[in-house]
Formats: sequence, C-alpha cells, structure tokens
Amino acid sequence: LSQGVRQGMIEAVAARGRDDAVAAAVVACRGDTFIAGGDIAEFDRPAQPPHLPEVIACLAVCDKPLTAAIHGNALGGGLEVALACHYRVALSDARVGFPEVKLGLIPGAGGTQRLPRMAGLRSALELITSGRRISASEAQAMGIVDRLYEGDVLEHANAYARALIEQGSGPCRTPEPPLGETPEAEALLEDYRRRLARRARGQIAPQAAIDAIALALRLPLTEGMKKERAIFLECRESEQSRAMRHAFLAERAASRLPDGESRAIRAAAVIGAGTMGTGIAMCLANADIPVTLMETGEKNLQRGLAVIRERYEGMAQKGRLSEEDCRRRIGLVRGSLDEGAPKEADLAIEAVFEDMALKKEIFGWLDRACPPGAILATNTSSLDIDEIAASVSRPRDVLGMHFFSPAHVMRLLEIVRGAHTAPEVLLTAMKLARRIGKVGVVAGVCDGFIGNRMLHQYVYEANRLLLEGATPDRIDGAMRDFGFAMGPFQVGDLAGLDVGYGIRKERRRRGVRIDPAACLVPDRLVEMGRLGQKTGGGYYRYAPGDRSPHPAPETETLIAQVAGGLGVRRREIDVGEIVRRCIYMLVNEGARIVQEGIARNGGDIDVVWLHGYGFPAWRGGPMYYADRIGLSRVLEEMHELEARHGDRWRPTSLLEERARRGEALSE
Ligand code: NAI
Repeated sequence: LSQGVRQGMIEAVAARGRDDAVAAAVVACRGDTFIAGGDIAEFDRPAQPPHLPEVIACLAVCDKPLTAAIHGNALGGGLEVALACHYRVALSDARVGFPEVKLGLIPGAGGTQRLPRMAGLRSALELITSGRRISASEAQAMGIVDRLYEGDVLEHANAYARALIEQGSGPCRTPEPPLGETPEAEALLEDYRRRLARRARGQIAPQAAIDAIALALRLPLTEGMKKERAIFLECRESEQSRAMRHAFLAERAASRLPDGESRAIRAAAVIGAGTMGTGIAMCLANADIPVTLMETGEKNLQRGLAVIRERYEGMAQKGRLSEEDCRRRIGLVRGSLDEGAPKEADLAIEAVFEDMALKKEIFGWLDRACPPGAILATNTSSLDIDEIAASVSRPRDVLGMHFFSPAHVMRLLEIVRGAHTAPEVLLTAMKLARRIGKVGVVAGVCDGFIGNRMLHQYVYEANRLLLEGATPDRIDGAMRDFGFAMGPFQVGDLAGLDVGYGIRKERRRRGVRIDPAACLVPDRLVEMGRLGQKTGGGYYRYAPGDRSPHPAPETETLIAQVAGGLGVRRREIDVGEIVRRCIYMLVNEGARIVQEGIARNGGDIDVVWLHGYGFPAWRGGPMYYADRIGLSRVLEEMHELEARHGDRWRPTSLLEERARRGEALSE
C-alpha cells in the first residue's frame, strides 16, 4: 500500500467512475498476493498523500459496483480496501486478517467500523484484537467474503462482476447508522477488555482496538472512521508500536538470506528422542521432511515415537490439525535402531545427553553413516561446537542448530557457525529455519551462544539482588511488571534448579569464571533437594498439584545465612533498581556479544530475547530498550553501578563507543 499504489487506485477508480462504457469494476492484484498491508518503513517517515482513508473513501462512494478479487493474503490495509469494495470474492486458499495489534497498531482506515457492521461485534473483536489470519472459508462464514473459487481469481471476479451487471445489482455499501449500544454489546466489550488485560498484559493496542470497535455502536460510519483514525495515529506514534515495528524489522533482517549456494534437504535423521529430539523431529515433519528418529534402545525409541503421536493426535482433537495431516506427519517420523539408517539423510541433528565424550562418539558414527554432503548438526546448548567438529573428517559440514524447549512450539532457532562451517552449510540451515517456520538467528561459538550467555548474567544478577535483600517474590514481581510472563526464580523452579546446577558444574570444570557469591543460594537449594516445582519446593514452596508459587521460609533462612556468611549488608531494594540491574546486565552482555562478533548486530540479539526468552514484544528487546532509555544515560548508570559493585559493571567498549557517537545499539 505504498504511495504509488494509493495514488494509482484513486486515479483508476475515478476514471472508471467517469467512463460511461464501464458498468462495474474489479480490484485485483498481480503477482503472489492481494494487498498484504502497509509499508512499515513508511511509518517512520512523514506520510505522503494520498492517505489510505482517501483511497477507501473513493472506493466506497464509487457508483459502479466494485468487486475485490482476493488471492494470497488480504491483510491490514489490504483487508480494509477489500471491505470498502462493494463485493468480495476469494480463492479458497486465500487468507485475511488484521495483524495491526502485533505491531502495536489498530486498523486505521475503517476496519474497526466496517467489520462489526458486516460480521457482527463478536467476530470483529475476535479478529482485530487477536491479529490472527483466518482462511477464506472462515471469512465467508463470517460474512465478509461473498464467494469462494479455485483457479484464476481475476477470471472468476470478472464473471462475478458481469453477473452483477446482468442482475442490475448496484454498489452494496456498508450501512452508515451505528449498531446501537445494547447491554449485551457492552457486556461483550467488557469481557474482551478483561481477557485482553490478562492475555496481552501491558499492551495498549488491543485495548485501543476495543475502544475503536466500540465507536461503531454509537457513531455513524463516517464519524466513527474519523475517531478511529485519531486512535490509529496515536498508536502509530506510541513507544510500544515503535518497539514492535523494530522487532518486526529486526526479525526480517535476521532471516534475510545472503546470496550463495545451498544444499537440498530431502530427508533428515534426529539422534536422541528425548525432550528436544521429539520436538525437533516434529518441526521437520511439519515441513514435510521425512525423519529417521534414532535412540539407544527399543524402549526409549517407542517412548519418543509415542510422545510425537500423542502430541499430533492432541492437536487433531483440538481441531488445530486435520486428520489427514495428523496421519501424514506421524507417518513421516520413522524410528530406527539401525546404525546404517542415516545413509540417506541430507541432515542429521544430534540431541543426545549434554556430554562431550558421548557427542564426539555420535559424530564419529554420523561421519561414517551419513552420505557425503550431509549436514551434521548438534543441538548442544553449552558444549564447544568446534571441538565436536574437530572429531570428524568433515568439519565444514558441522554446525549448531540450537532449538528452544518445547522445540515444536518455540520460534527461535540459534544457528551456530563453527570456525570451519562452510558458508553453504550455514545458508542451508538458515533456509531450513524458514522452511520449518522458525526465526533463525546466526551466532558464533562461545559459552552459551547468544541467548543463554546473556541469561546466565541476568540470573546471576537476580541472585545477587537476593543476597542484598530483595525476596524472590519481589524480584519476580518486578520482572513480571516489566512485561516478562515469569520472573527468573519462577522460571528456575519450573525448569528444575538441577539444570542450572549441572551447567555451572560443567562450566567450572572447564575453568569458566563464575562469581561464586551469585551461585551459593541456587547451589545450596539443589544440595538441600529443593529442585523446584518437581520436588514441591525450590526458591518457592508449592502445594501438591498446584503450580502457584508461595514464599518458602526455608529459602528465606538460607538467603539470610548465605548473605550473613558473605558479610553482605541487607537492605530494602526498590523495584526500579531491580529492573535496572537485571536488564542492564542483558544490555552489557549483549553489547559484548556484538563486540566479539558472536552476534551480527544488536537487532539479532533483540530477536533472540523476544522469541526465545519472553522479553516483552512491546519493549522491542533489550538492546532497543537501552536505545530508548538513551545510551548515555545507560552508561552513566552503569558507571554508578561499577563504583558500587565493582568490575562486573564495567561497560563494554562498544557501548561506550556507540554512546559517544550517538549511534544505536539495536541496529
Ligand atoms: P533428554 O535427556 O530428554 O534426551 C536425550 C535422549 O538422548 C534420551 O532419550 C537418550 O536415551 C538419548 N540418547 C542418549 N545416548 C544416545 C545415543 N548414543 N544414541 C541415541 N540416543 C541417545 O535430553 P534433552 O533435554 O532432549 O537434551 C538433548 C540435548 O539438547 C542436550 O545437548 C541439551 O543440552 C540440548 N538442549 C536441551 C534443551 C532443554 O531445554 N532440554 C534446550 C536446548 C538444547
């Protein structure tokens, strides 16, 4: 919907309107899709007229019947164009929706006023506040598509328009009068407000969308549209929308593919059918890639296959997957115990226990068993990929593919390039990420790659705050209020404190320096048998069968003891300090990761934290957050922290440099 398209549409519709030889017209798009939305890059520049509402007005008042011909996607402003036309036909595989809330916006050219009038209040609330894309048949059932077709949409739309002429059907416009403020309507609005306050906690746009939809109850169409526009413009200028647009563009930049050769992935093998292996196998099967799943013995293999089958069947039962797709995907994952089984795999992903000796053994075998040109990937979260690569005859084919748990749900994939990984191997992995619906972010080899390396610093800082006097509940509450779904201690209890314990043990063995004070409490908790939810207690106490955290007196005694032993003076710590210290740790470590070339840029780091660690989308990611605070202020505050707490707060030189030059960290 860039300026040229808007201008062209107005001229074309006006010309058809004046032409006596034209009795009806079709609005269609060449290429892959109908209009799939506005140009996000345009939002940050002064808007060029004509604006979309002018286009919409011109379509709506045209006195010849206009038919929108939808193929591909009709999204956002694209759907508003379609709704302003007088009739709509679509290909049955087309999709429509209002994704604006995902960018912190609302539809701003009539969407919130036309949709409730055409589809009813409930459908409008559902579609606009969720940002969900729906199928053409759902859209038809909703009453916003008149006819579905297969084949050439323009041909069908022309025939449809001709039929309109023959029947003498004129323009069919959206009714002007308001829908009326009934008690049922008010109750429905209230219900949505409440639900979204929870589901989209902290977000302005979904509530603004409800405000706009509510206008349709009491204002005529044109007046409602004026007010809708004002709300839209307010959203567009908001911090939240800027942050979400940054997140969107950063994600697109992260998955932009460099030029070059890549390899075909026709079949894959997944080694290890545990937590990660089963999820990874599903990701591949979802993209129609046949998978050989391998295990140590029949029992483990059958257990893994059963997990996959149950998950797919569960999805089918909930109606999220057709019976046919369910069967096909289950059929695509074959179990095998045969050492020769990966002989046709173009890609092997290893997800066995986190143990270097075992991984080397597995890679030695894959080296022999996989065909030449096959890519050998490891899902390790902490081991040195270069060391693994050194154990095979083809280190060029080795890289890390670090999925996040649950692998079939989480969208992030860290693609870890080793010192010898061939560019075409890296590119193949990036293409695969896209194919399986992941956001792939390229990382270099280091302890914890991008995400976990930052996570460690964040969790350590939270533990230091604990010793200085903040309770787990206060820290978690502060991070929830910041926008995370859970605070660091809730996450620890959920994942199991033994996981971090094992990682610290391994890191110490490798001589990685970890601040001992930051680990005393979590280490002791594990040694006391408090592993988290699974043992009924960790940082918190849990009642049997209940996942809600309650303060645990044992933990509080332990914290006080450890703090006493270290001679830490305990004090009241305010929420501002908690957030600042936890987030600035992420910022500083993130900057160091960019400086070392482990991440390509700050935008990639934001993508990792948004998609892998639940950083609130409307804050744009840790690096973007620092930019918005202002790097010189961040720097100043870090220097203060350095004076109080020592070296760990020394700002990285990249941060100093960017602040001095007035450059952003998130670009
Ligand atoms: P898991 O313990 O659930 O599964 C490992 C599986 O590998 C077991 O089923 C085991 O029987 C199998 N296995 C062991 N030796 C084998 C062999 N020689 N051949 C075939 N299968 C063998 O472990 P999980 O959690 O799935 O972790 C696997 C890998 O993924 C580890 O490297 C871990 O660090 C990494 N990872 C784990 C994440 C998590 O959240 N659990 C997240 C990201 C990475």
